[in-house]
Amino acid sequence: MSVLKIKDVSKIFPNGTTAVDSFSLDVADGELVCLLGPSGSGKSTLLRMVGGFETPTSGLMTIDGEDITNVPPEKRPTGMVFQSHALWTHMNVFKNLAFGLKLRKVAAPEIKRRVEGVLELVGLGGYGTRAVTQLSGGQQQRVALARSLVLEPKILLLDEPFASLDQHLRERLREEVRDIQQRLKITTLFVTHGQDEALSMADRIVVMRDGKTEQIDRPDVVYREPQTPFVAGFIGTMNLIEGVVSNGVFSKAGYSTPLPVSDGPAILAVRPEALDLTASTTGQGKVHRVTDYGTHGLVDLELKDGTRVKAMVSHPDLFQPGQGVSLAPRAIAAYRDGKVIHRTSAVAPAPHPALVDA
Ligand SMILES: Nc1ncnc2c1ncn2[C@@H]1O[C@H](COP(=O)(O)OP(=O)(O)OP(=O)(O)O)[C@@H](O)[C@H]1O
Ligand SMILES: [Mg+2]
Repeated sequence: MSVLKIKDVSKIFPNGTTAVDSFSLDVADGELVCLLGPSGSGKSTLLRMVGGFETPTSGLMTIDGEDITNVPPEKRPTGMVFQSHALWTHMNVFKNLAFGLKLRKVAAPEIKRRVEGVLELVGLGGYGTRAVTQLSGGQQQRVALARSLVLEPKILLLDEPFASLDQHLRERLREEVRDIQQRLKITTLFVTHGQDEALSMADRIVVMRDGKTEQIDRPDVVYREPQTPFVAGFIGTMNLIEGVVSNGVFSKAGYSTPLPVSDGPAILAVRPEALDLTASTTGQGKVHRVTDYGTHGLVDLELKDGTRVKAMVSHPDLFQPGQGVSLAPRAIAAYRDGKVIHRTSAVAPAPHPALVDA
């Protein structure tokens, strides 16, 4: 049972930069929460404050009700894995893992049992005597993870632990980490700026912007019901079309669609997979480029003023550059003043035929 509470935490660096701005979050027992946001949004600073490597300017942090705000890192029940893994290269794998346990005066037989158990857990059983310099990048990241896990932290903190690895290895390791995390039921805060990583691993996602929370929700909700145009544009591919609403109709450069909101400016949001195209000579748009991905195609088109829009199609061979097309969105959202003002339905658009065929 380990619950992390972050309450109104801010970090203002001496140079005046507000890296984290009155941030609050509760992470439930055994939950994995991803902090997702663009570079500079304060993710690492927040994680480092939870780990004790940075002191908050104000605010409170507790683990299982105990105030840890000013507790030094080595006295906190947290384990942190950094982006650059920083293993001790002069020690073999076993010694890297045993070091923290020795500091905690754990008896030698117990150290051996725990280190061997954790190495098994991360898929490195039998690697104890290996020099860390003789490991691949992926294996080194697993040792870094094992080094945190062997201390049996109440809260696991991961700061982009796979950023330096290639796509394939990253996908495999994130599945492994998710498996281990669920098996141990360890409360975890995971920083990434990869949306795939967040969508596939997290119980909940915190989308951060300028040190603040833009949205906290389950991955499917963040994807389907982004609360702000920032989240809509940040997660997945989204067409964001800035136009004007008049008498219940949204218009932009010759394209119009019913939108039951009051008159004024609006941003229309449509996912490529929720936008149907039909060939039309009097089209609202013109095909710019067609890309065939095998399972589906992506059509880049232009509205009359040059605004780019993407649509996913099941038969890319039906479209050619220069051709006129009409747009028929199956699901839309609309934003004004940074807030959602309309959504066709809370349910996801029907799966695109291309995805069903595949
Ligand atoms: N020691 C520091 N002194 C001054 N400003 C800092 C310091 N560390 C970070 N910052 C600033 O705080 C802001 C947040 O930085 P942080 O490293 O938390 O971002 P991040 O979301 O982790 O970004 P990235 O995805 O690039 O790792 C940035 O504007 C950064 O320049
Ligand atoms: Mg960072």
